[in-house]
Amino acid sequence: MKKIAIVGPGRVGESAAQILAKEELCHELVLIGEYSDSTQGIALDIQETAPLFGFDTRVFGGADPEAMSGSDLVIVCAGSPRKPGMSRDALLDANLPIISSIVDSVMRFAPDAMLLMVTNPVDVLTYQVWRHSGWDRRRVFGLSGVLDSTRMASFIALETGFSVKDITAMVLGGHGDAMVPLPRYSSINGVPIDNFLSAETIARLIEHTRKGGAEIIALKKTSSAYDSPAASIAAMVDAVSLDRRRILPCVAILDGEYGEQDIAMGVPVVLAANGVEKVVELSLSEDEQTALAKSAAQLRSIIDKAEINV
Ligand code: LAC
Repeated sequence: MKKIAIVGPGRVGESAAQILAKEELCHELVLIGEYSDSTQGIALDIQETAPLFGFDTRVFGGADPEAMSGSDLVIVCAGSPRKPGMSRDALLDANLPIISSIVDSVMRFAPDAMLLMVTNPVDVLTYQVWRHSGWDRRRVFGLSGVLDSTRMASFIALETGFSVKDITAMVLGGHGDAMVPLPRYSSINGVPIDNFLSAETIARLIEHTRKGGAEIIALKKTSSAYDSPAASIAAMVDAVSLDRRRILPCVAILDGEYGEQDIAMGVPVVLAANGVEKVVELSLSEDEQTALAKSAAQLRSIIDKAEINV
């Protein structure tokens, strides 16, 4: 990709910018923040790591949304983060107007871009952006499953003592307490995890995964997680930028898949140069299907309350 814009270079956005630059996933990286000086400062700070890491990505920063013009991808991280004890959904009122004005700018200055939504509540905001942009659903997607899955894979690695290199985990559903970790689709080099872990241990790891984000906020107190969200953003951008056609769980707009329509939630997709190439439908057990439907119903009740005007 030639150009990527990150709107909202807070902790998640800044950390993601550093990785994208270092990995040379674009030629030009533009950070757009609320304050011009501080955003320029962040961009310069990252740019000055280039000789050490050996990257040629050019990093710019400022407050003018017009700087996103010509972007292939706009990553939206702007908005309030969660505070200890707060649910992701409680952020909706605070973040909806912010996202509304950002979508307005994206449609004006980067009308041909793809949009990766990171701001929480990510499923609801991804849906709202898609609906109000009128864009093809392949171009609008969000971060959740990659983050939730890397958490689950980390816990499996720590529990078993096996290398993370061989571990894959799959988490579907909304990026919230009703997320649906799928141990049946989680494995160690193809071997299902129940070969190594008891049912009780798997249940504990699932619970840990569900509460993974809240656990970090409760411990850090002044910040939500940002290293693992940033690395997750980079994994998604890598798939798009290098047209890898990776199968990754992402927030995607559903059009009949998994029996759901007119909703955005975490499902496995083929992520490639043009965004969501395809939603991958897994065959689910009755329990898994019920958990996913419950997660969808919970999201739908929030979507019904949320409206952005763009
Ligand atoms: C988390 C927040 C960023 O899961 O949603 O850490």
